[in-house]
Amino acid sequence: MNQAADNTTTARVQSLRAQLQAASYAYYVLDAPDLPDEVYDRLYRELQDLEAAHPELVTPDSPTQRVGEKPATQFTSVRHNIPLYSLENAFDLAEFRAWEERWRRQAPDAGEVEYVAELKIDGNALALTYENGLLVRGVTRGDGIAGEDITPNVRTIRSIPLRLNTDNPPPVVEVRGEAFLPLDVFEQINVERAERGEALFANPRNAAAGTLRQLDSRIVAARKLDFFAYTVYSGAGNWESEGEREEDPKSKTQNLKSPTSQWEALEFLKSLGFRVNPNRQLCQSADDVQAYYDNWATRRLQLSYLTDGVVVKLNDFALQQQLGFTQKFPRWAVALKYPAEEVPTILEAVSFQVGRTGAVTPVAELRPVQLAGTTVARATLHNADRLAELDIHQGDTVIVRKAGEIIPEVVRVLAELRSDDAVKAAMPTCCPQCNSALVKPDDEAVTRCINISCPAIVQGAIIHWARRDALDIEGLGEKWVKQLVEQGLVHSVADLYSLTEEDLAPLDRMGKRLAEKLLGAIAASKTRPWASVLYALGIRHVGAVNAKTLAQHFPSAAALAAASPHEVETVHSIGPEIAQAVSQWFQVPANQTLIDRLRQSGLQLAADEDQTQAAEAGALVGKTFVLTGTLPTLTRPEATELIEAAGGKVTSSVSKATDYLVAGEKAGSKLVKAEGLGIAVLSEADLLALIGQD
Ligand code: IVH
Repeated sequence: MNQAADNTTTARVQSLRAQLQAASYAYYVLDAPDLPDEVYDRLYRELQDLEAAHPELVTPDSPTQRVGEKPATQFTSVRHNIPLYSLENAFDLAEFRAWEERWRRQAPDAGEVEYVAELKIDGNALALTYENGLLVRGVTRGDGIAGEDITPNVRTIRSIPLRLNTDNPPPVVEVRGEAFLPLDVFEQINVERAERGEALFANPRNAAAGTLRQLDSRIVAARKLDFFAYTVYSGAGNWESEGEREEDPKSKTQNLKSPTSQWEALEFLKSLGFRVNPNRQLCQSADDVQAYYDNWATRRLQLSYLTDGVVVKLNDFALQQQLGFTQKFPRWAVALKYPAEEVPTILEAVSFQVGRTGAVTPVAELRPVQLAGTTVARATLHNADRLAELDIHQGDTVIVRKAGEIIPEVVRVLAELRSDDAVKAAMPTCCPQCNSALVKPDDEAVTRCINISCPAIVQGAIIHWARRDALDIEGLGEKWVKQLVEQGLVHSVADLYSLTEEDLAPLDRMGKRLAEKLLGAIAASKTRPWASVLYALGIRHVGAVNAKTLAQHFPSAAALAAASPHEVETVHSIGPEIAQAVSQWFQVPANQTLIDRLRQSGLQLAADEDQTQAAEAGALVGKTFVLTGTLPTLTRPEATELIEAAGGKVTSSVSKATDYLVAGEKAGSKLVKAEGLGIAVLSEADLLALIGQD
C-alpha cells in the first residue's frame, strides 16, 4: 500500500487539487458553478483516496483539508497585530452629514473626495493571516485587542481561500472581513435545534458567533458559514512602514500593484481569491452616498444574508492615514445604520414564561410575520410595568420590532383598531406552572415565583446545569429535561445522579441506547472542575467568569460557604452585590443539602489539588512559550493545555521575553525570528520530554 508516490500519481494529485480548487472558487466565491456536483464529488473522492494512500502528498491547502479536525479543548487568545476597531454609528443622514463635517474640519484641504459605500454585513469580524500565501491563522474580533484563535473552524469556510491566488505572495498578509450565516442556513439550524429541544438562536449573527466558537470544527464544517472580505494589510500595501516595504521587492504581487485606496483594496482582495460583496459603490460625493443608502434601504431585504446598514469609508488611503483613529474608531469611516424594522401583526394571546430564576416574563404569541428576513411568531413584552404601559388587549394589532441583536419586541399597540369587547392582558397573580403566589417587590420590574420546587425553575436550573460551559452534559436538552421534571423523576440537579436506565428508557422517544448514552454523559460531568460546578449552580450574578475567579480564591465549596460577604468581596473584580448573592445562597438550608448531595454523588466541589499543585510546582513555571507550525500529534489547544498544566504560559508572538518556541511542520516567520533572537526551539518530543510526558 503506502508506497512512495510515483511521478504520475504526484501529477494527478496536483491536477485534481487544482481542478477542485477552481471549481470551489467558482461555486463559493463567484457564485457561478462550473462543474456538476457529481463530477466534483467523483474528483474529490479520487483525491481523497490518493491522499490516503500517499499521506506525504497532503498539503495544507488541499480541498480535503476543510472538513474539520477533532474537537479542541479550548481556544487560545491571540493579540491582534493591529486592533480591530469598531465603527462610529450614524443613525440617519443628518448624522452622516455631521460626521462628514467633522472629518472635514480635521482635513480642511481635502476638497472633493471619493467615498466607498459598502453594505454592513450583520455577522462576526474575522482576522485571517496568510504566511507565504498560506492561511495560517483565523482569529475572532474578541474585544478588538485580542481574539480567539479559531483556525480549524475558519478553514471550513469554503469562500475563504486556504492559499492566496498569487504566485508571488507577500510574506505576510492579513485579511479582515465578516463571517456570516446565510438566512436559509440560519433558519434550518433553528428548525433542527427546535427538534432537539435546544434553545433557538435569536438571529443569524448569534448563530454565526456560536458556530465560530464551536470546539468541534466538524460541526462548523456542516454549518455553511460564508465570508465577505473588506480589509487587507500586506507587506505590499498599507501595513508595514515604507522602509520595510522597499527592502522587500518580493512583496509586490504580480497581479496587482499595492492598493492605495479602499476601492483598489477590494479589487486586490478579489484577485487574491476572496469573496467581496458585489453591492459596493464608489461614490463621488455625500449625495451619492445618500442615494446608495436610500436605494439599499429596501433592496437589502431581498438579500440572502442580513445587513444592518451601510459602511462609508473615505476611499483614499493617504487621507485615511492623515485622519487616523480615535480611541475606538477610525475617523475615516462611519456606519450609517438602517432603522430597526417594524411590522404590524395580530396578538393572538399573551403567555407567561417562568425562567430559571423564577422571573415571569409576559410573551406575545403573534400571528407569524416576516421580519428582517426571519419568521417571528413570539415577542417579548418584558415585564409587568411594560405590559401595563402598553395597555395591550387580546386580538390587538401590534407593531413588532427586531433590532439587530435583540429578540423581537412589541413596541406599540394600535389601540384605534381594537374591538370594544377586547380583554385586557394582565400579569397573573399565581405562577402559571406551580400555582404558588407570585411576588413583585415594588422597587423591581420583575415578577417572580419563589417556590424553589416550581417545575419551571427546576427545568431552567437543569438546563443551565447541563450547558456546555457548565457541566457540559451532552444530549440533555430541553426536550428531555421537560419530561424528567414532568414525570417527577428529577426535582433538583442532584437527582440527575441517581437516574437509572429503567427511569430513562421508557421516556417518549428515548429508548435503551439513548438512555445509556445520556447516563454516560451525566456520569462524565462528575469530572468537571469546581469552577464549572460553581457556575452551574446558577447563583445570581455568578457567571462563568466570576465563578472561575471565585473558584481560584476559594478552593472548595466549603471554603466559599464559610467565607463572609466581606471576605468574598476582597477578591479582585468581585463586587458587593455578587458577594452578597453568594453568601445568601450558601445560607439557604435547601442549598446546603444540595451541596451535600452533590458531594456524595462525586461531583468536584473542590479544586483538583493534583492539578493545582502540578501547575504551581510544574516544570515550566515562569517559562513563556510560543507555538508555530503543525505539531505531529498535538493540536495547538492541546499543546497549550499541557504547557499551562505544567505552569508555563503560551503567548502568540515571539519576542525577547519568549523562552521556547515549539515548532512543527511548516513553521514560518516565527521560527526565523526565534532563531534570530537565539531562542531555544523545541520539537513536540522535546516539549513532552521537558514536561516529563515522553
Ligand atoms: S470596516 C476600521 N466594512 O461592522 C474599519 N466593517 O460596527 C472597521 N462590518 O467590526 C470595519 N460589514 O465586523 C467594515 N463592509 C464592512 C463591514 C464591516 C460589517 C462590521 C465589522 C465591524 C463592525 C463595526
